Amino acid sequence: MGLIIENISKKFISKHNQMHALEEVNLNINDGEFICIVGPSGCGKSTLLNVVAGLEKSCEGRVCLNGNVINGAGPDRAVMFQESALFPWIKVIDNVEFGMKMAGVPREERRNRALKYLKMVHLTKFQNSYIHELSGGMKQRVALARALTLDSKVLLMDEPFAALDSQTKTILQIELQQIWWETKKTIIFITHNVEEAVLLADRVIVMSANPGKIKKEFNIQLARPRKFESVDLTYLVADIMKELISEVEKVAKFEYDSDWNMEADTILSDIDNNLGAGL
Ligand SMILES: Nc1ncnc2c1ncn2[C@@H]1O[C@H](COP(=O)(O)OP(=O)(O)OP(=O)(O)O)[C@@H](O)[C@H]1O
Ligand SMILES: [Mg+2]
Repeated sequence: MGLIIENISKKFISKHNQMHALEEVNLNINDGEFICIVGPSGCGKSTLLNVVAGLEKSCEGRVCLNGNVINGAGPDRAVMFQESALFPWIKVIDNVEFGMKMAGVPREERRNRALKYLKMVHLTKFQNSYIHELSGGMKQRVALARALTLDSKVLLMDEPFAALDSQTKTILQIELQQIWWETKKTIIFITHNVEEAVLLADRVIVMSANPGKIKKEFNIQLARPRKFESVDLTYLVADIMKELISEVEKVAKFEYDSDWNMEADTILSDIDNNLGAGL
């Protein structure tokens, strides 16, 4: 049971290029587990999430949710992206109800659920506002409420807080932890922010690029609620950064001009110096 990602491979082939976005990715995720995926840009994180969402087909392998093979998008998996993709011409509450409307949920039930989740993200007061009247953080909370209304067991989040300022991000991280605690959802959360990953996850997955693979997994056994200031969290972040930096450097060497020169050793010694300084 749970979510099983089995031997997923994905190639993108165009006239001029062939990109091995994912190669033999295997991951078993328990019901209610919070997974964070980190990895260099272009290592296939979004592709993997889209395959799980059923928005993208893999070339090989399969994904099973509670014993059923995933074959396309479905209401058992809600997705949230970096950009909230809300409709500016309808009110907040109608945006939140939109997915349920598409899924054929009756009107009264729709309204009740929309209000329940707007309350959960603390936006009841703004239910009749239009999207352009909201801040970036409020928009992402509307998007989160919309994703939650489907009552899906699985929530797939692709850098949902990446575009937000750090204070708003902190508030949303706290809200998300509470919502996860209350709803017991299985969450896959992609981020470039290793601190955010350690703060939120039961398990952090580090991916490598070219081809996209799982490089290493870290079980995060820190007690919750977690705090950024915690020393244990800082050490785990440093461990994960060490895995990540060499991958980032590999990608940069491939993508950047040949005069680019930033050795992983320099970055790693910076991390060690920061730890030595108690950061
Ligand atoms: N539709 C597509 N057609 C061709 N190549 C694609 C397509 N989608 C993704 N790719 C390629 O597959 C690789 C993985 O892309 P993906 O978007 O999954 O990376 P990512 O890890 O999410 O990156 P980022 O951190 O920048 O969001 C990249 O090299 C990308 O160029
Ligand atoms: Mg991506």
